[in-house]
Amino acid sequence: MKTRIKVIINGKICTGRAGQTLLEIAQNNGIEIPNLCHNGELKHYGGCSLCVVEAEGSPKLLRACSTVAQDGQVIYTESERVVRTRKTSIELLMSDHDGDCRGPCVLNCPASVNAQGYVQAIARGDDKEAVRIIKERLPMPACIGRVCPHPCEDGCRRQMVEESISIAYLKYFAADRVIQAGGYLPPKAAATGKRVGIIGGGPGGLTAAYYLSLKGHRVTVVDAMPQMGGMLRYGIPEYRLPKRVLDEEVAEIASLGVEMKNNFRIGRDVTFEEFKNSYDAVVLAIGAWESMPIGCPGEELDGVMGGIDFLRQVAMGEKPAIGDQVAVVGGGNTAMDACRTAVRLGAKEVYVVYRRTEAEMPAEQLEIDEAREEGVIYKFLTNPAEIIGENGRVKEIKLQVMELGEPDESGRRRPVPVEGKFETLPVTCVISAIGQKANVAGFEGIELNRKGIISADETSYRTSMPGVFAVGDATNQGASIAIEAIGEARRCAKVVDLYLNGMQVPYQKTYLSVKKVSPEYFADYIKLPRAKMPTRPPEERKHDFQEINLGFSEAQARAEAARCLDCGCHDFAECKLIRCANLYELQPERIERIKGNGKGKLHPSYKEKRLVAIERDQGKCILCGQCVRMCDEVVGKGILGLVGRGFDTTIRPEFQQSNVIRECVDCLKCAEACPTGALRIRENELEE
Ligand code: SF4
Ligand code: SF4
Ligand code: SF4
Ligand code: FES
Repeated sequence: MKTRIKVIINGKICTGRAGQTLLEIAQNNGIEIPNLCHNGELKHYGGCSLCVVEAEGSPKLLRACSTVAQDGQVIYTESERVVRTRKTSIELLMSDHDGDCRGPCVLNCPASVNAQGYVQAIARGDDKEAVRIIKERLPMPACIGRVCPHPCEDGCRRQMVEESISIAYLKYFAADRVIQAGGYLPPKAAATGKRVGIIGGGPGGLTAAYYLSLKGHRVTVVDAMPQMGGMLRYGIPEYRLPKRVLDEEVAEIASLGVEMKNNFRIGRDVTFEEFKNSYDAVVLAIGAWESMPIGCPGEELDGVMGGIDFLRQVAMGEKPAIGDQVAVVGGGNTAMDACRTAVRLGAKEVYVVYRRTEAEMPAEQLEIDEAREEGVIYKFLTNPAEIIGENGRVKEIKLQVMELGEPDESGRRRPVPVEGKFETLPVTCVISAIGQKANVAGFEGIELNRKGIISADETSYRTSMPGVFAVGDATNQGASIAIEAIGEARRCAKVVDLYLNGMQVPYQKTYLSVKKVSPEYFADYIKLPRAKMPTRPPEERKHDFQEINLGFSEAQARAEAARCLDCGCHDFAECKLIRCANLYELQPERIERIKGNGKGKLHPSYKEKRLVAIERDQGKCILCGQCVRMCDEVVGKGILGLVGRGFDTTIRPEFQQSNVIRECVDCLKCAEACPTGALRIRENELEE
């Protein structure tokens, strides 16, 4: 008998030994055939059908893991029929799968920062690891931990027990400790010789600079302001983000070799064309620095100013003449920053004029409450009708009284004027904080959108100019929170790196499994209160610009992090199932349809609670039987079995049963064999 055989796979001549399976020969010749239930240590089983291939002359598809190859056989591993069959198999598996690939906190973060990962690291006392995890996605954790309105916390599942984890402040805690201990920077790749110019040194520009520099590119950031930091420096007051914290994180980025040039304005110091020609790629991160006008008569009077301009002047050490009575118009975080800054500058009465009610305010509740504690007076359901002056200076503001009508497109109830009802406030200054927009002067030639700001592709960040990319507040939807710009900038840096290496970005929306849970699921969890950030008392803090938060104590931070439910799957990076799901571009809508839109019959999903060193999550089990066969064929114990028939098949006995506990040798081979996250080695169990 011939010992060497040849098989033609996808047109490639592959050699192997007689007796080998098609899967073995393909793998040995560098051809990937997806598989879930195959394991080289075990006998062939053939359950998942993912490894099917098409053989010339065979009407049936063959399972590559259990089909012995024939000399001269012609095989296709990615034919249309094969792909369709595999896709159906994975769809069926995923439609009966109940697990969270990623924690809800991670999914809710615009920059996809692995909040679960760093919260868990903080719980273990490993702050450096926490910062390492954060910096995979976000290079300025001490700043962002202080100022981010934390959408991650809005998604946090701990709310089903009582309150969300204080994720942002934990980031601030770990980042401060690591900075005090000398900081952390990941290793940098060798120099590529490519040059990238970044316009704008705010959170977006600095993030792009950080990740492109780590890739070995020579990066220069230019900025029109005297120092780097953008809105973090000139738009966020010192009492929320001390400049020394920002300086430390900017210096860390500069230490990677990023060249930083301030007081550098495109259109004045160089033309955009000249700048562009000096680099292999350019990233625009110019931000939105112009306040939107209120749009009522009297706006031209002295004493009316934009919120961003006001905050910038204060950040630059100027003392704008605001007088004793200040009205801040708007309900977002800039309005909160402006009113609290006005209090600190000594204004006696500071009003916030907002056309809806407190419930609709976009500002964070904490900011609203803290401003109130500092004496800010809210004028809800009012809107400026006219700013009245005397000798060219503001004297009064006439407010139209409003009421809430029907919901608008945003779902919030629309404010409508109450006819003939007005109120007048004596004021010395009016600050407009109703939004901001980008100034694109100097960037002529770049395509703008209907809003008059830069049009950039939402997944590749390309602009209409080759080699020019754009992120952040000056693009597409306009101004948003810093973490949005940071998320875009990191993804953009990835695209720019590929571009500099002559590659295109393949865009594919990642398919993820999301667990369905309700508060009942957590009914027996002990309720633990969320840690409260210690702050300086209002009477003291309202007179100065020193930071108002005092930071978590170590004991507070560790206890707070330990509340985390560790929602996302421990196996996400290794899981073969989710890898296959994405290889075959599964559509969430189709999975929902197969599930019967919540009406279909699914296997019960539960976690076995008291176990040996292994924990099993039934919702993630695909019944591939590898754990059972591993325990039997390799370990020789045969403790586990696949019991029941058809739909009711399950693994028995459960790991907490006495016969398992008695017989199990804690070899962990079953967990290692599991292709999904269904079996987990319990870390604390191993440490004991
Ligand atoms: S087992 Fe795989 S598919 Fe399931 S939740 Fe974990 S990573 Fe996602
Ligand atoms: S409990 Fe932990 S893992 Fe779950 S969403 Fe909250 S922070 Fe993330
Ligand atoms: S628990 Fe066992 S049967 Fe279930 S997916 Fe893991 S290895 Fe397969
Ligand atoms: S049937 Fe071949 S790997 Fe599952």
